[in-house]
Amino acid sequence: MPTKYQNLIGADWKPASSGKTFTSVSPADHDEVIGEFPASGPADVEVAVAAASRAFPAWSSMPAPKRGEILFRIARTLAEHKEELSTLMTREMGKVLPEARGDVQEAIDVAYYMAGEGRRLFGQTVPSEMPDKFAMSIRRPIGVVGIITPWNFPVAIPAWKLFPALICGNTAVIKPASDTPACLVRFVELLQEGGLPDGVVNVVTGSGGEVGNAIVEHPNVKVISFTGHTDTGVEISTRAAKTLKRVSLELGGKNPIVVWEDADLDLALDSVVWSAFGTSGQRCTAASRLVVHRSIHDAFLHRLQKRVSRLVLGDGLDDKTDVGPVINDRAVERIAAYAAIGRNEADLVIGGEAATDGKLAKGSFFQPTIFTEVRPDARIAQEEIFGPVTSVIPVESWDEAVRVVNGVKYGLSTSLFTRDVNLAFRSIRDFDSGLGYVNHGTIGAEAHLPFGGTKATGNGHREVGQAALDFFSEWKSVYIDYSGKLQRAQIDTTFVDEQ
Ligand code: UN1
Repeated sequence: MPTKYQNLIGADWKPASSGKTFTSVSPADHDEVIGEFPASGPADVEVAVAAASRAFPAWSSMPAPKRGEILFRIARTLAEHKEELSTLMTREMGKVLPEARGDVQEAIDVAYYMAGEGRRLFGQTVPSEMPDKFAMSIRRPIGVVGIITPWNFPVAIPAWKLFPALICGNTAVIKPASDTPACLVRFVELLQEGGLPDGVVNVVTGSGGEVGNAIVEHPNVKVISFTGHTDTGVEISTRAAKTLKRVSLELGGKNPIVVWEDADLDLALDSVVWSAFGTSGQRCTAASRLVVHRSIHDAFLHRLQKRVSRLVLGDGLDDKTDVGPVINDRAVERIAAYAAIGRNEADLVIGGEAATDGKLAKGSFFQPTIFTEVRPDARIAQEEIFGPVTSVIPVESWDEAVRVVNGVKYGLSTSLFTRDVNLAFRSIRDFDSGLGYVNHGTIGAEAHLPFGGTKATGNGHREVGQAALDFFSEWKSVYIDYSGKLQRAQIDTTFVDEQ
């Protein structure tokens, strides 16, 4: 019998009001059922939002340093359970164990960072233009936030949305991806263990159509933070507009690594393999394009192919495994369809098929795949595949490289390998992206700088760092006039040259 999980509504774990359930299975072995979860609907969202609304007055009026202390305890609780949570993640989501540990570590980092923010949450104090008047801005909590998270970072992404929302004094309803609900439920149990008061975080599992839409359209949910597919982001944004919600969307990427002719090729190779095939290419930041200077193309590709041919596919819990499964069989089908498109558009260097040898047949595996001589406008060079597939685009000049880098609808992460400091700085100026790397691959953003991208990667907001505090709080500008008389701003001010 699979473990039965429930929704968290206030202090209580409850089944869906309909009694319906769905299961989560391991992508490495479909016979391994991780658990059974409530297939919830709008009625469950209703009670979760009510619980979050009830918890809001006490949580938002608790002094922020106290909220910070709770986050600090949560950080420690997560650290104590890092191994357990990482193992569950590898079983449920598939990423290899060292990467799962990184995912949990990212959550711990954000918890410590936001715990410290409890004693900052800086506003501004500025001089007033009038005498005897004090002017400042302060951050205010907003209310109930709705958080809808993907499966590729089942703990880090919920954490980097939740912790800034919580330190700013908001309460939350969270819907995890249906492929990774166990990770989220366990994560939230650890928040409770760390001392989070009841109702501050509520969990409703179920589909986007049933649960996601009900959260997005609920009038008492003031903020939506979503990471996922661009089309879903557009849909969420459209629905949320009717109740004037604040919406942060973290969407797709088609991230390039540019390998220049003077690059340290050993370093570039290590970074390309890690950025393109780490997490089986299922990161928004994955390097799905390699823009390689023509003069080094053949040598680089030869070495890359050799490296990739040695990558071991398998269960992420096995320490011999380099590349775990993709999330499910639908993903295998989508990636295979792109591989078929790629065969018509470009030259296949390696891979291109689902991997079904031996034990791999029990799960959802796809061979690490490289295409070369890919035209910049080919579909495999333009569309987000979200799997272990990367496209090599040879270029001959710097201007051409910049055009190729920027010639996609997304703008999340870009990277350049070069020893030329002038080009390094030019790349930071000219590559249109929210994350820019030099001599480092496209993945591995840190928790204390803003995360997000330009163009169709989002709608202008940023996650984590200081930017997340701006998203999850309301600015209030405060003026205190201690002159004891009517002072009319813009009217009673006398300028020096009028005196
Ligand atoms: C994502 O793929 O949505 O920079 C997040 C990185 C990670 C986060 C990726 N720290 O690759």
